[in-house]
Amino acid sequence: MDYQNFVEQDRVIDAIANYYETPPLAYMHSFGCQQNVNDGEKIKGVLVQLGYGLTDRAEGADLVIFNTCAVREHAEQRVFGNIGALKNLKVANPKMMIAVCGCMVQQKTVVDKIKQSYPYVDIVFGVNGIDQLPHMIGERIRTRKKVIMEPAERTELVENLPIHRDSSFKAWLPIMYGCDNFCSYCIVPFVRGRERSRSAENILAEFRALIQSGYKEITLLGQNVNSYGKGLDHPMDFADLLAMLAEEPGDFRLRFMTSHPKDASRKLIDTIATHDKICNNLHLPVQSGSDSILAQMNRKYNVTEYLSLIRYAKERIPEMTFSSDIIVGFPGETEEDFEKTLELVREVGYVQLFTFIYSKRTGTKAAMMPDSTPYSAKTARISKLLNLHEEFAVNFAEKMVGRKVRVLVDGLGKIEGTWSGRLENNLVAEFSAPENHTGKFVWVNITGHRGILLTGSIAEEQGE
Ligand code: SAH
Ligand code: SF4
Ligand code: F3S
Repeated sequence: MDYQNFVEQDRVIDAIANYYETPPLAYMHSFGCQQNVNDGEKIKGVLVQLGYGLTDRAEGADLVIFNTCAVREHAEQRVFGNIGALKNLKVANPKMMIAVCGCMVQQKTVVDKIKQSYPYVDIVFGVNGIDQLPHMIGERIRTRKKVIMEPAERTELVENLPIHRDSSFKAWLPIMYGCDNFCSYCIVPFVRGRERSRSAENILAEFRALIQSGYKEITLLGQNVNSYGKGLDHPMDFADLLAMLAEEPGDFRLRFMTSHPKDASRKLIDTIATHDKICNNLHLPVQSGSDSILAQMNRKYNVTEYLSLIRYAKERIPEMTFSSDIIVGFPGETEEDFEKTLELVREVGYVQLFTFIYSKRTGTKAAMMPDSTPYSAKTARISKLLNLHEEFAVNFAEKMVGRKVRVLVDGLGKIEGTWSGRLENNLVAEFSAPENHTGKFVWVNITGHRGILLTGSIAEEQGE
């Protein structure tokens, strides 16, 4: 389905303009993963089309939207805290509207809690409701009543929503939505619904438009990109999609996330190896290094299979770097299980590691599993893991000293007088340069490092 300027659009724009005394400002904040960030960019696109200006503060905004994440309890608590803090702003500015959307409100319990405990929230809509936002704002103004969309599954994809991207040179490009994997700890399949792939034609059209507008780094998004293409009229696998995009003309980099180890194939590694524009960096979340925990997690691979793919990638692409997500303290995880995770982390050597303490999510299978490990033991495990990872990453950075590398410049560095840029392998370099090259590729000589952060200066000779 294509997003169209539905019949009501002009009426809603007029209603908004009449409702506020001055041109209205909107503040939109996304929590959670890149998928949510990309949805947030679309929400901002819709708002701009409706005549809102954008602001980066809730204070002074006429519309505040929180695009929420439900993946861990902590994420949900933060959102409730943030909604609570808006109460006073609303007292000061009664015309201010508050909207809550995204993954959290796909859960009926959350919608009920908002209705009961946060009655000043005006609009609620789920992950598939972005195209309905103009209508909801229009209804809120017309009826002066709250507009609450109850959680519902919608399988149809809406194409061509307006978008207001956060960056002018790095872009997210969703290739699929939802997830069918039902890892036993995870809420995502419940809130994001079943897996649906976008057509290759729509992806290619968006991709070409991005390259033409000067985007230099495109990250393909999906909860499990390696199962891309199922159910399409013209089925295509992920490696073929990736190759097709990498063969487009232009100076750009291609990244993707997330790969599920059960579906990541040797063909994928071969495709990365044969295409320079695909970054030599693989985010392959392992979650645990213990086969029995992996089975309890319903991950459908074991450590041997995981390591065999990593070894293949290392042989085929010696420059390849890896990153991972790990959950510590899954119900029933023993010290021995955790030792196996440490062993695996030692063997792979990740340049980036995202570690999480298991968080119980109501409705998931793991929520029923007995969990007797004290929280203090879980935090102790996390710190061990982080120390081990840090040691590897710092050694890795040390080995990069003396190299000449190409980075995409992000802007100012944290170290005074430097610029910051990211290497293909996902490490960050801060370097001195006489000019601002933000949004461009430059060659940098790496002369040192601070922990995992590389330091250096722009190369006089721009080229390999
Ligand atoms: N689809 C991706 C990422 C999903 S969410 C994947 O399969 O890897 C991102 C990460 O959050 C997961 O990889 C997992 O490590 C973590 N996570 C998900 N549910 C969690 C929970 N209940 N408690 C703690 N961490 C969780
Ligand atoms: Fe969650 Fe597993 Fe799906 Fe990732 S693959 S979103 S961890 S259910
Ligand atoms: Fe969170 Fe939803 Fe992403 S639950 S991790 S924002 S898909």
